[in-house]
Amino acid sequence: MTEQTLSIIKPDAVERNLEDKIKSFYEKKNLKIFKHKKIQITKDEAAEFYRIHQTKAFYENLCNYLSSGPIIVMVLEGENAVIKNREIIGATDPSKANIGTLRQMYGISIDKNSVHGSDSLENAKTEIEFFFNK
Ligand code: CMP
Repeated sequence: MTEQTLSIIKPDAVERNLEDKIKSFYEKKNLKIFKHKKIQITKDEAAEFYRIHQTKAFYENLCNYLSSGPIIVMVLEGENAVIKNREIIGATDPSKANIGTLRQMYGISIDKNSVHGSDSLENAKTEIEFFFNK
């Protein structure tokens, strides 16, 4: 089934000029970049985006980090895009991510893990709406 999902190139990867490499990696894996934009969000917006993590110890740090510099938000489209994107980015902790995944190749740490990907079709819809339909 053709789906859409959200991907974010996080501040650590934007800072290292990895935007083009990450975008072409997605295209090579048959995920089309349907929409994209470079933005910087506020800490409050990051807190809203990551509200499902609000009870976690790392929440404050996470919100500070996502709002610390420019990010690229992208709507990816393709066959089973949600699960495919999750496979392409790899495990949250880059040191545990499979070889050839974006986080294994570019991630620095669990915080600076270079990319975000929606974890379900339902969350993909909410996250796309958050960045593109406001
Ligand atoms: P992401 O997939 O964007 O979703 C939430 C983020 O929280 C995650 O990537 C990590 O960058 C960050 N994070 C920091 N510490 C942890 C942790 N212990 N477990 C899960 N996510 C964490």
